[in-house]
Amino acid sequence: MAKSSCISTAKLFFLSSLSSSFRLRYLTTATTRTSLSFTITCSRNITTRASKSNKKKQKAKVVVTAASKNSVAVKEKRRTRSDKALDEHAIQSYVGDGGAAAPHIPVMLGEVVDVFSSKPLRSFVDCTVGAAGHSSAIIQAHPELKLYFGMDVDPVAYEKARARIDAILNGDSCHPTSDLKTHTILKNFRHIKSVLSEVDKKLLDTGVDGILMDLGMSSMQVNDPQRGFSVLGNGPLDMRMDPQASLRAEDILNSWPDTEVGRILREYGEESNWRSLQNKIVKTRLRGGLHTTGEVADLIRNATPGTRGGRQGWIKTATRVFQALRIAVNDELKTLEDSLYSCFDCLAPGGRLAVISFHSLEDRIVKQTFLDIINSNEDDGDEEGRQRSELRKIRNDNGENEPWIKQMIQGYRGAILTKRPITPSEEEERLNRRCRSAKLRVIQKVETE
Ligand SMILES: C[S@@+](CC[C@H](N)C(=O)[O-])C[C@H]1O[C@@H](n2cnc3c(N)ncnc32)[C@H](O)[C@@H]1O
Repeated sequence: MAKSSCISTAKLFFLSSLSSSFRLRYLTTATTRTSLSFTITCSRNITTRASKSNKKKQKAKVVVTAASKNSVAVKEKRRTRSDKALDEHAIQSYVGDGGAAAPHIPVMLGEVVDVFSSKPLRSFVDCTVGAAGHSSAIIQAHPELKLYFGMDVDPVAYEKARARIDAILNGDSCHPTSDLKTHTILKNFRHIKSVLSEVDKKLLDTGVDGILMDLGMSSMQVNDPQRGFSVLGNGPLDMRMDPQASLRAEDILNSWPDTEVGRILREYGEESNWRSLQNKIVKTRLRGGLHTTGEVADLIRNATPGTRGGRQGWIKTATRVFQALRIAVNDELKTLEDSLYSCFDCLAPGGRLAVISFHSLEDRIVKQTFLDIINSNEDDGDEEGRQRSELRKIRNDNGENEPWIKQMIQGYRGAILTKRPITPSEEEERLNRRCRSAKLRVIQKVETE
């Protein structure tokens, strides 16, 4: 780290937002770089945002100043593993039908229920209703709930969720005096504002008490080879969450410019062998291109040296390539960033937004956007406003009621209740391997703006 002593605070913060491989590359050549707008390989969004304005750099400085003086690399790895006891019985009750191969197990179910349990929840939006596991648990935990929205862009999830929520409403498990109104909607969560205002225009002013985003794929999607998400099952190169969308993985691999194919492997897959894969993919076009997930898996298997990542190393590479394609097909990162701002706008005073992410690119966007949201102050020119908007890390004084809140970051417009993301307990990881990369972050809007 000797060289890094000449790197500015803002750059250090930027480094903390890069994956370790990018950071290493940057640090090795740091002395030859002069500004934040260098040509480093990382998500386009994040690069643009980091170099956009002095205002953003100023915010970055505040965070680093407040952070510990420990190594930035160590800081990024630290996280808070959930200490909540796993309630297997509750999980069994909310497992969804994930298709032939395996059920869909809701991730960090108890932790998500806890996020919304301290205050009355009169209105709630599940942006990613999936098999309705989290939604069912929330509905049953809140007899006071009056208005529920479940959104999903995938028609299979939408049908399953609708049937499941109807069954709760009509079954014995719903509170007998409940006058809950439910709306299950087949739409991308980027349209949350229009969805709420179509039901009641006033909702955009009053806001909702809770919003959940459980990102990633459901078991229904992964387990169906015809959707094209699975590395090991053979099927068409589709990967659309929304089957009405026009772009498929096949289109990217067979017709996008080679530099764009390389860019998504590098930025969205964080794949170090991207250049060689890009060349091999483009060469297949001379022989008719790639049309099935099996063909892509074969290409990666043949392109991955046996020594790389162990005997099954090619599966790790394939997982990164599939992730890159899926992110590009569904425009996941831009959609997430824009939607986090929209969701926060839709919260009532004191309302909470909880987000579960499944890979570092998503989590970085959630972390950065939450910081940006709580610190943004429309009246930036005013000195008093600037002082108020300074981010402050504070301990949770309400630890007895909400022990899951360890350390918060207080800002002008709200508080981040999870200074470090909550990750699944070891018990949960043993029960459900799919949850192992999950990270839960929660933001709360101020009581009065
Ligand atoms: C991990 S699953 C959610 C599972 C759900 N929480 C449960 O307990 O059953 C993620 C869901 O989000 C949906 N999804 C992903 N991106 C979306 C978007 N932009 N808008 C709406 N739904 C989306 C997927 O189709 C999938 O059904």
